[in-house]
Amino acid sequence: MRLGLLSTVALMGVVMSVSAHAAESSVKSGVYSAAQAERGLSVILGECARCHGNTLLGGENDTPPLVGAPFQSKWSGLTLGELFEKMYTTMPSDSPGRLSKSDYADALAYILATNKYPAGDKDLAANADALKQIKIEP
Ligand code: HEC
Repeated sequence: MRLGLLSTVALMGVVMSVSAHAAESSVKSGVYSAAQAERGLSVILGECARCHGNTLLGGENDTPPLVGAPFQSKWSGLTLGELFEKMYTTMPSDSPGRLSKSDYADALAYILATNKYPAGDKDLAANADALKQIKIEP
């Protein structure tokens, strides 16, 4: 009985610290893995670079950069969830939603790596709701 109460209290502590951590999570907390970013590079080269450029600095026909201060400040205050939704609902712009969700998540990991946000030891989830816990900061 007493043990049950204690473990409930301990569990609540864990749950509370996990959710507090999630709310504070940002692109600076190591939210993708290096292996995921590497997979993302092939997605980017195959599906995105012809418009956004091999280095994501933008391309012809007003295709915007996906790297650098203007990109980061444009999205800052929003979350990776919104950026992920933008990607899978509108990109590639001539064939939106063509890739799997996990390919979009991998591409997003590569975009974070290129913007010099640190890697961690877990992959980004291929799920907009989960990604809405991660704030974008310049
Ligand atoms: C056929 C050309 C083309 C391809 C291919 C393409 N994009 Fe885009 N992308 C655009 C254009 C044009 C815009 C600007 C209009 C807009 O935001 O919808 C854009 C905008 C974006 C934005 C928003 C940038 C900002 O400043 O807010 C993201 C993120 C993005 N693309 C990601 C991708 C990813 C990831 C891929 C590959 C899966 C991709 N795009 C493939 C043309 C393309």
